[in-house]
Amino acid sequence: MFTLTAEQATIQRMARDFAEKEIMPVAAEYDEQEKFPFVVLQKMWETGLVNYSVPEELGGAGLDTFTSCLVTEELGRACAGIATTASANSLAFYPILLAGTEEQQKRLLPPITTHGKFAAFCLTEPNAGSDAASVATTATTVNGGYELNGSKCFITNGDIADLYVVFATVDRSRGLKGLTAFAVPKTEGISTGKKEIKLGIRASSTVVVNFDNVFVPKQNLLGAEGQGFRVAMQTLDTSRPMVGALAVGVARGAYETALKYAKERVQFGQPIANFQMIQAMLADMATRIDAARLLVWRAASMVDKKEGLFAKESAMAKLFAGDTAMDVTTDAVQIMGGYGYSREYPVEKYMRDAKIMQIYEGTNQIQRLVIASNILK
Ligand code: CAA
Repeated sequence: MFTLTAEQATIQRMARDFAEKEIMPVAAEYDEQEKFPFVVLQKMWETGLVNYSVPEELGGAGLDTFTSCLVTEELGRACAGIATTASANSLAFYPILLAGTEEQQKRLLPPITTHGKFAAFCLTEPNAGSDAASVATTATTVNGGYELNGSKCFITNGDIADLYVVFATVDRSRGLKGLTAFAVPKTEGISTGKKEIKLGIRASSTVVVNFDNVFVPKQNLLGAEGQGFRVAMQTLDTSRPMVGALAVGVARGAYETALKYAKERVQFGQPIANFQMIQAMLADMATRIDAARLLVWRAASMVDKKEGLFAKESAMAKLFAGDTAMDVTTDAVQIMGGYGYSREYPVEKYMRDAKIMQIYEGTNQIQRLVIASNILK
């Protein structure tokens, strides 16, 4: 649990080197211009830093969840927006890996993974966010398959995806028992709407995706009709440790910047790191980052062992790491004062990027609900 294997350490070092060389120098520019990082993503794909959690035979790097979290932390430390773009593929692939047949996995994933393309996970709607069971997008049975109609919002990579994993209801009167998952390669009837102008993770693209009479062949149904809610929950249980890892990376980036600054910044004739108020903040930041990482590593190990349920531990990792990212980045700005608030230094970006860690893949209030329901079961 506490010592990385030689292979894990090598992969972590590779991800860190790439992030420092290829992502950190351009992170501010992509954030400022809210520009999609095609060039960086292409290099990441060539280096194996996209789809790294997908099995090798399906075109990924075949890393387990634990090692994927090591990589994700390094990417998050460099730019959470670029990291989110890459990890959105994994989120979209999990329903296919968890509920798809071998035939579906072999048919649907390699066209995306082996060509550096993108996929989008389409669950959220204007009236179905935390209440995921309220999805209004319909899947109507037609000859040979289904026809999808509805709109999804806050969809990462929705405008550049070649594969959509869509949750729709086959019968609204059945509530969550009507929810069904489909894999939808880009086709007629799919269009993108409003692009969100965001507080943080501005290098990632977040859009509305509309489905108008989109035909989906029956062989693209993931699992069975009515299993969509379960598939969505299992997907989120599996991917939340990675959100936690991303949050740890953001927190670490801010902490390291503030630590360096505190040792260099002289006030009242000495480095501000000599002052106990600053020391207490640095001590709390370092402690929380380590605690968050340990929760992430525990949850990731449980996902990899595939033993029993890990919904509670995944939610704990995402909750604690997300809150840590927000607290640590806010303290980093505080330590750096006016310089922290200025775009001259990266900590204000870390702080803006941190906020989404408490929101996406289930708000931290939802994580508390998941934890409580598992404790009380
Ligand atoms: N694994 C498997 N099955 C599960 C499950 C899990 N983790 N959690 C629940 N289920 C099953 C239950 O067993 C139950 O099945 P039965 O009826 O057959 O017993 C069924 O699902 C309903 O369970 P609950 O009654 O516990 O569910 P609920 O209605 O109370 O709601 C919730 C649960 C936790 C609030 C859930 O709605 C939830 O997690 N909401 C948050 C959704 C979310 O994370 N949205 C974010 C979207 S993705 C995103 O954000 C992407 C992005 O931006 C990049």
